[in-house]
Amino acid sequence: MKNYKIAVIPGDGIGIEVMNEGIKVLNTLSKLNKDIAFNFDWYDWGCEYYLKHGKMMDEDGLEKLKKYDAILLGAVGFPGVPDHISLRDLLLKIRQGFNQYINLRPIKLLTAQDCPLKNKKVEDIDMVFVRENTEGEYAGVGGFQREGTKDEVALQTSVFTRKTTEKVMEYAFQLAKSRKKLNKVTSVTKSNALNYSMVFWDRIFKEKSNVYTDIKTESFHVDATSMYMLQRPESFDVVVASNLFGDILTDLGATLQGGLGFAAGANINPEREYPSMFEPVHGSAPEIAGKGLANPIAMIWTAKMMLDFLGHEDLGERIMKSIVEALNNREKLTPDLGGSGTTNEVGDRICKIIENIG
Ligand code: NAD
Ligand code: IPM
Ligand code: MN
Repeated sequence: MKNYKIAVIPGDGIGIEVMNEGIKVLNTLSKLNKDIAFNFDWYDWGCEYYLKHGKMMDEDGLEKLKKYDAILLGAVGFPGVPDHISLRDLLLKIRQGFNQYINLRPIKLLTAQDCPLKNKKVEDIDMVFVRENTEGEYAGVGGFQREGTKDEVALQTSVFTRKTTEKVMEYAFQLAKSRKKLNKVTSVTKSNALNYSMVFWDRIFKEKSNVYTDIKTESFHVDATSMYMLQRPESFDVVVASNLFGDILTDLGATLQGGLGFAAGANINPEREYPSMFEPVHGSAPEIAGKGLANPIAMIWTAKMMLDFLGHEDLGERIMKSIVEALNNREKLTPDLGGSGTTNEVGDRICKIIENIG
């Protein structure tokens, strides 16, 4: 019997609503499988916590989180607290503090009718982003000069280390090998303008492609990549990108698979020196928060990614099958998918399907 200790940080807005559904699904699975159990510890860190306590998480928050097998996070950020405070002091603090340098984001279409592109089959949209998750433009290096004067300058320095860049690319090549789709890695660059960071990125990509000679490679500038993703999504397999480019392109990718309500993600520390964190790609969606309108599928899919990471791919597979079945019969889907169901009803429906398939 495996008993996992999971830290749960619902966060803000719809993060709280979708988290309930993710936990519901995990509890349903453990009820049906006596060999797996979850111990969830809930942390109410987020913007409300900040407004009460003047901080986004406890000072010893990372210390507290260290002991868990994994962390589940909903979404962070809400009007009333500046985004750069809420995100840097909670979400990015965990990603960087726990060296979760891989951000894995699958872009996979589950039902053809949810794709906004014409005539796409489900197999046409099936790629995975490996986004560098701790450095680049998010390194937090920079400052203001001559602040408040008419000569004011803001600096935001991007940082790319050889160690992390190499490991991110290796991860991408290994993934391309294991996926057996096109056996291809696409690197997202912008070395025509960024003459240090992206020239360095290209050089390391070339070095790694010389090692993984059985994997095809291609490299596109980020602007062209955004166009190709729409024009011919079927030509992508594994995509490796820097922190900022990966952030932007994965929202575009989410749209290809039916919207942010589908986009799951994992922040991974591959060496397992620290816990990894599982969170959907979307944010707290303040304008629909508290109304039961949020699509919980991204969060439920994210829970599947956590199970895969913990070595329970069979259970993860059951979650995916149940999501697809719920989508196919279109009962009780949320408004983003043209339905009139609530967040809670979608979660209940998926749990019921899991129970039925046993
Ligand atoms: P967002 O992802 O919250 O919302 C973008 C759009 O997608 C909105 O129209 C929203 O209604 C819709 N949407 C998102 N998730 C949905 C879901 N599950 N079901 C249905 N519709 C959904 O992005 P934003 O508006 O740029 O950001 C809002 C807040 O969230 C900000 O504070 C931002 O910094 C934060 N944010 C946090 C994370 C995170 O915690 N991982 C990610 C992105 C944004
Ligand atoms: C994401 C989000 C975060 C990011 C923000 C909220 C800091 O957009 O997880 O995609 O940029 O990484
Ligand atoms: Mn984003």
